[in-house]
Amino acid sequence: MQVLHTIERVREQVRAWNKAGESVAFVPTMGNLHAGHLALVARARECADRVVVSIFVNPLQFGKGEDLEAYPRTPAEDQQKLVAAATDLLFMPEEQEIYPHGRDGVTFVEVPGISDLLCGASRPGHFRGVATVVCKLLNIVQPDVACFGQKDFQQLAVLRRMVNELNMPLEVVGGPTVREADGLAMSSRNRYLTAAERERAPAIYQILQTLEQWLRQGQRDFSALEQEGRAMLQRAGLQPDYLVVRRTDDLLPPMGGESSLVLLAAAYLGRARLIDNVLIEL
Ligand code: PAJ
Repeated sequence: MQVLHTIERVREQVRAWNKAGESVAFVPTMGNLHAGHLALVARARECADRVVVSIFVNPLQFGKGEDLEAYPRTPAEDQQKLVAAATDLLFMPEEQEIYPHGRDGVTFVEVPGISDLLCGASRPGHFRGVATVVCKLLNIVQPDVACFGQKDFQQLAVLRRMVNELNMPLEVVGGPTVREADGLAMSSRNRYLTAAERERAPAIYQILQTLEQWLRQGQRDFSALEQEGRAMLQRAGLQPDYLVVRRTDDLLPPMGGESSLVLLAAAYLGRARLIDNVLIEL
């Protein structure tokens, strides 16, 4: 596996692969890799001849008072895991390489509407930071395919919209959420949970599964269902931020007649803010 730190070297390598007729799949990450990230790398392997992964803790997507400094950084372990997952190229840029004009000199990418709902409402500017860095990374790597996890369902929806709206010539692939044995979605931030909180954390997925059953049984009073879901989160000792039923493409409230829906939830548990979702094909 090549480990490269500059845009120039990455471009050189991708150009050489393209010249040899090889396609490229790309998985952007912030490191501290777990089985969820590695499943995406495995998905990327199936999509193209070469796999590029990036590790960059993007300061633009962290709000004031969020965990930018505390965010876990484990580059040595990450590199070992990526070698084992048959990654061809790891791009690990310094902040200066990505933001040469400083944090105040950034040209932003704004995806309106969908960025302002749900997690975007609780974390103003978050999706602008995500869209901006992913746009830059896609312009740097110029992959044929880019892979993102459904665990961050709204992020995936924002990035699909960006790629479509900016006519970026690549395919976006979503990978299923990888979970711990008890159902908790894997996340680098789960380490912020105390032992007692960790025991309560799977409730978010259990509650979403219960609500999924109700929808499958024909329940269509979405606001009653959302209200009951939030009450269930509270009873489980989690502080709900949101729990909603939405359309899968624009994440707006359903109008009736949709062939798929998504249940999305975010809840605070101690220092952690957990998010999870369940996609429902009707
Ligand atoms: P990060 O949280 O490191 O996640 C990198 C990719 O892994 C994202 O596409 C995310 O959805 C996916 N992922 C995380 N946990 C997962 C799980 N349990 N199952 C399946 N996929 C999972 O998301 C980011 O980084 C950043 O916002 C980024 C897109 C890299 C932009 O900075």
